Amino acid sequence: MKKVFITGGSGVVGSALARFLSRDYRVFASYNRSPPKPFEGVEFVQLDITDRGAVSSVVRSLNPEIIVHAAALKDVRFCEANPETARRVNVDGTANLASSCDAFFVYVSTDYVFDGSRGMYSEGAVPSPWTVYGKTKLQGEVEVASLCSRYAVCRTSGIYSLAEGNILQRILGSFRQGKVDSYFTDVFNSATNLGNFCRMLGRVIGLGETGTYHLAGSERISRYGFALKVADTFKFGRSLVLPLELGEARRRAELRPFDLSLDIAQSQKRLGIGFFGVEEGLAEIKNEADALKGNI
Ligand SMILES: NC(=O)c1ccc[n+]([C@@H]2O[C@H](COP(=O)([O-])OP(=O)(O)OC[C@H]3O[C@@H](n4cnc5c(N)ncnc54)[C@H](OP(=O)(O)O)[C@@H]3O)[C@@H](O)[C@H]2O)c1
Repeated sequence: MKKVFITGGSGVVGSALARFLSRDYRVFASYNRSPPKPFEGVEFVQLDITDRGAVSSVVRSLNPEIIVHAAALKDVRFCEANPETARRVNVDGTANLASSCDAFFVYVSTDYVFDGSRGMYSEGAVPSPWTVYGKTKLQGEVEVASLCSRYAVCRTSGIYSLAEGNILQRILGSFRQGKVDSYFTDVFNSATNLGNFCRMLGRVIGLGETGTYHLAGSERISRYGFALKVADTFKFGRSLVLPLELGEARRRAELRPFDLSLDIAQSQKRLGIGFFGVEEGLAEIKNEADALKGNI
């Protein structure tokens, strides 16, 4: 069985990837400050990716054929207020890992590498981030491309799942309390079902080909449009969802690019699997939750 080492194993994306990939690989996953609850099929190690010596010794001892690098500081406001810390984790941490061995290196990146002025960015579009988060993630991409002989840069967008703190969980929490809330009509992305993302990334590993991939939902959608679809799928009233136009000045001040949607056509063709639209993605989550608990 091939060995995969996943960083960010205590995070939303890394933990889901660890579970998913453990079906086909021997999986090691790292955490930094938050030890995850153990789960079968995944061996956890503590690792601060900014510690170059520790990265080198952990990677050398695990000797994986594949590294999936999902650890990052991804809180856009925190990164803006702490650019040095963001750079140390998102750039230096990535370089430490990318230079640690000659495994196939899969870097989980983001739609924030684009400026968001027009949306539907293809894999070949020129990135021009304006947030510290976006700039450091883009520099991470550059480090990977210069340090690894075989690598995949996998950009995704607005991951949703029932994980604690996730946008979907927050919207459902608000609905359950019967709260009427406002959702932005002028902030767009390519909302991505987490399970679908894991399957896409599994295909990228199977393919083993160097390149840039857009692993995201197939639909450009506003926060408002997303909230309406959540209401429909989970059978809450649409009256709980109000439209709110932020406007350019507030978007800028709140570090919310206008349109970060990703064009996935090329990656979908290359990987040969379905990339979900929002209705399909939400329906899958609802069905899984219903099957597990009876109801949510
Ligand atoms: N979530 C999204 O909507 C989204 C969209 C686009 C791209 N992405 C990308 O997807 C990746 C994962 O995001 P996520 O949502 O899973 O984030 P998350 O839930 O915030 O998890 C971040 C992970 O990074 C780890 N980490 C942070 N600093 C570290 C350090 N110094 N050393 C080692 N590990 C460190 C954390 O470990 P501890 O908690 O143990 O400290 C945690 O496991 C990121 O690269 C992000 O850029 C996410």
